[in-house]
Formats: sequence, C-alpha cells, structure tokens
Amino acid sequence: VRTIDWVDGAIEIVDQTVLPEQLTVRRIETLDHLVSAIQELAVRGAPALGVAGAMGVAQLALSGAGIDEVRTGAARLRAARPTAVNLAWGVDRALQRLEDGPGSVLAEALAVRDEDVAACISMGLHGADYLRAVVPDRDISLMTVCNTGGLAAVERGTALGVAQTIHEQGWLQEVVPLETRPLLQGARLTAWELQQMGAPFRLVVDSAGPFLLSRGAADAVVIGADRIAANGDTANKVGSFSLALAAKHAGVPFVVIAPESTVDMSTASGADIEIEDRGAGEITSFGARATAPRGTETYNPAFDVTPHELITAIITDRRVVHLDRGQELSTVPLQPSRQS
Ligand code: MRU
Repeated sequence: VRTIDWVDGAIEIVDQTVLPEQLTVRRIETLDHLVSAIQELAVRGAPALGVAGAMGVAQLALSGAGIDEVRTGAARLRAARPTAVNLAWGVDRALQRLEDGPGSVLAEALAVRDEDVAACISMGLHGADYLRAVVPDRDISLMTVCNTGGLAAVERGTALGVAQTIHEQGWLQEVVPLETRPLLQGARLTAWELQQMGAPFRLVVDSAGPFLLSRGAADAVVIGADRIAANGDTANKVGSFSLALAAKHAGVPFVVIAPESTVDMSTASGADIEIEDRGAGEITSFGARATAPRGTETYNPAFDVTPHELITAIITDRRVVHLDRGQELSTVPLQPSRQS
C-alpha cells in the first residue's frame, strides 16, 4: 500500500489518525476532504504533503472547475499547513500546467508522486554511504524524532528511509525513536514502521533523548525537514532543536535528510519560517481526558528551527552538503539522483 496514490480517479491515503490500531485507506473525493485530512494529519510529512498538494489541484481541475475556481481552491490547499514548503511546492507545480488542461495537471501530479519514490531511494543510498564513513567498522545506532518513513512520503521515507537502507544492508544495530509529543508520530507511526521492517528499535520519551545521547545511545541523530532555509537553518518537528544541542554536547553528528523540494532558497534563514501553532487542545487533553486545568493557555509549536551551526550535514536526493566543513547549499552543485 502506498501512503498516498491516485486510484480510479481520486486520491487515496493511508489514514494516519488511526494507526497503529488500524491500517485503513481513506478515499478523498473533494477539496474539503483533502484540506481536513491535511489539517487533522491523516496525511502528513513534508514529501507526502507535496504529493497531496499536486493531486488536490489535479482533482479540482478534473472536476470541471474553471481556472479561477481551481486557483482559489489551490490557495486554500496551499495554506492548509504553513511550515512544510513541500505542500506549496506541490500545489505550484500542478498549477503551472493548468493552461494545458486537466490531463496535463494530473500528469504533473503523478510525476511529483513518482519523483518522490525515486528521491527517497536516492536519499537512502546517500545517507547510508555518509553514515558508513562516520561509523566504518561496526553496526550503527540512530536516534530520530517524529515520523520520516514511508508514511511521510509515498513508499520509502527520508531519515527513516536511511535507517531502512542500512537495515537492508545488514548493519543497523538499532533505531531510538522519540515518541514525539503531543501527537506521538514517533510512537504510533515510526515504531509501527520499524516493526513492519523487522528492524530493531527502542522507543523513548522525548525528554530522554538528550540524556541518552550523552550516554552514547546513538552514533548519529537523523531527522527529516519541513523547510530548509537558504542558510541551512532547518524547520522540523518540535524536539529537533533540543536533540541538535544535545548531539553537539555529545559530539555526535546531527544529520538532516530531505528531498531537494524541501530546500527553500527563497527563505533566507530560519527566522523567516512560519511555525504552525496547533492550539491548546493537543496538550491540555489526552483523548477524552483533561491533562491540564480548564482554560490553561499554551504554546504548541508543531515545529522548531535548528540553526545551521548545529547541523553536521544536509543530505538530499541530489547531494551531500557538509555544513560542518563550511559548505553551503548555494555552492554545492546538484548531482544526478541515485537508484543503486
Ligand atoms: O506534523 P507532521 O507529522 O507533519 O511533521 C512531520 C515532520 O516534522 C517530519 O519530520 C518532516 O515532515 C519530514 S517527513 C519525511
């Protein structure tokens, strides 16, 4: 099952609100359904959001809507979640083909989907080679946060895709995923994916991550990204920044793995990235049960920004940028994607 696909004229997604209890496919036939699915995180993760954005525009164009109506709907889709640049990027790619007719818009959306599959294979290979150089002589342990596996993309993921590649190559000691409060993407989704892969892992609470790094629990931290600014500052799931600080303290590489579509050269630095605040409900209750007094005010940033100084390398489908050696995104050229 693909996380997101175009099936018999509509978008189908694996519904991530009900995992790990149920593996259910949700069929999305309207823009309203798609916007809700994105906002409730039934479909989530930057690469998958890119595909959702492109397919959403295609679905509108194919519905018979006029060009103006498609553009209005696309603007709504683009704004459904503000931090992951891939959503706007996917919408814009599909919109570029609007004048050529609905069939061309759909072809572009399917290309976005297929490119993601290839990009994740390439990131897995680049990431595995990079980490083999970091730990040349034994099996490796990796710490990660949130979910960056196949559930965040189409088939394979970014940071978790690197762990998957290393597992397939036979030198993964274990993955240490953080549970990822408040929506538990690490516990519900990453642990589920690691089980499906048959990969060894131990789940930890978020606040244990920095301490465990100081005790040598991982050889590297690998994370995904929702937006990478031109200077390398990286927005990703909240908790990434504290792991980066701890990784620096422990002398452990902190590596960002994301497709080129997540690199946003029009955003100068992390200070310019809009961070989604998801409101009080997610942290003042757990299911139906209140976990804070009624009326409690909150900060609930879904993402944080790790400054580029704390990032060892950014690995994409097309290059490895060694920030720790003074390399920059603006100067390291793109290479062809790798498929083996
Ligand atoms: O709020 P989410 O679950 O969409 O957040 C996802 C992340 O932060 C991921 O790390 C990021 O999108 C990269 S996914 C390969």
